[in-house]
Amino acid sequence: MSEVKIIGTGSYMPKGITTNDDLSKWVDTSDEWISSRTGIKERRLSIGENTSELASKAAIKALENANMKAEDIELIIVATITGDSFTPSTACIVQENIGAFNAVAFDISAACSGFIFGLNTSYQFIKGGQMKNALVIGAEVLSKIVDFKDRNTCVLFGDGAGAAILKASKEQGILYNYIGSDGINGKESLNCPAVQISNPYTKIEKKEESFITMNGKEVFRFAVKIIPKSIEKILEDTNNSLDDIKYIIPHQANLRIVEFAAKKLKVDIEKFYVNLDKYGNTSSASIPIALDEMNRKGLLKKGDKIILVGFGGGLTWGSTLIQW
Ligand code: UT7
Repeated sequence: MSEVKIIGTGSYMPKGITTNDDLSKWVDTSDEWISSRTGIKERRLSIGENTSELASKAAIKALENANMKAEDIELIIVATITGDSFTPSTACIVQENIGAFNAVAFDISAACSGFIFGLNTSYQFIKGGQMKNALVIGAEVLSKIVDFKDRNTCVLFGDGAGAAILKASKEQGILYNYIGSDGINGKESLNCPAVQISNPYTKIEKKEESFITMNGKEVFRFAVKIIPKSIEKILEDTNNSLDDIKYIIPHQANLRIVEFAAKKLKVDIEKFYVNLDKYGNTSSASIPIALDEMNRKGLLKKGDKIILVGFGGGLTWGSTLIQW
C-alpha cells in the first residue's frame, strides 16, 4: 500500500473586501464589538462569482503548484454547504471548468469540517489503491445564505475557496485522520434550511428563507471542547506529543475559540495559524485557505508535522495529522 502526500495547494478569494465598518452601515454593530469578540477585521464577499467559480480558481492554482495537468486528476471532491445547485454537484461543474475529463467528481456536506472529511475520504480512495490522486476543495459563497439583517451571524462569515492535491507516494504524508459527528444533540445549534416541501399533498404555511441561524454560545462551548479533544485523540492514536507538532491549523471561526483551545491544551498560541482577521469564517474553505497561505509563505518545511482541526454544523468535527 502506498502513502498519500499533499503535493500542491491553492486558494482563491473574491475581490470584495468588506470591513467591520462597512457592516456597521448595514446592521447595528461596530468594529470594536466584532474585533474584540471574534478577532475578525474584514472578510471577502463574492461579487457575482458562484461557489464553483471560486473552487475552480483555487483548483487551477493548486494544479500549478503541484505541477500537474487537470486531465491527470482522478478524483474531485468539493466540500461545500453553498453549492451552485442541488444538481449537478459543484465538483462536476469544477470538472468541466478545469477540464478534468478523467476524474470522478462529487460533493460532500460536513459544514466547516468539510475539508477534513474530504481529505479523509480521498485518502481512503488513494490508500486503498482505487485512485492515484485527488483534488480536494473547500469552497463557499456563504453570503448567499447569510441574512445581512442579522447581526448575530452576518459579521462572522465570508466567501472563499482553498484546494489541495493528494497523490500516492512512497514517502509519508498524511499520517492519520479522525472524524466525528453528532446529529442527535447538535443539529439545532447551527442551521440553514433548504427548500421546503411543496407538492400536491403538502402546502407551505409560511415560506422559510434559506438563512444561517446559530446559537453562538452553544457552538462556542462545543468548539472549545472539541478542538482539544480532536487534537489529543490524533496525538494519542499516533504516539505523538504536542512538542512534535510544528503548527496547528484550526478552522477559522473566532480568535477567542483558538485562545481557549490553546489554553486548555497548555500550548503556545503561536503554534496555531490564524488568518481569520482577513477572511472571517469561510466554513469548509477556511482550513485549505490557511494551508495554502502557509505553503506559499514557505512556512511549511519538509518533515514538519502539522495538525488540521475542524468543527462545525451537524455537528461535525475532525482532525488530520500531516508530515509535510
Ligand atoms: O464555524 C462554526 C460557526 N460558528 C462559530 O464558531 C461561532 C461560535 N460562537 C461565537 O463565536 C460567539 O458566540 C459569537 C461571536 C457569535 C458571539 O459572541 P458572544 O460573546 O457569545 O456574544 P453574545 O451572543 O452573548 O452577545 C452579547 C451581546 C448581546 O447583547 P445583550 O443581550 O448583552 O444586550 C448581543 O445582542 O452582544 C450583542 N451582539 C452584538 N452587538 C454588536 C450580538 N452580535 C452583535 C454584533 N454587534 N454583531
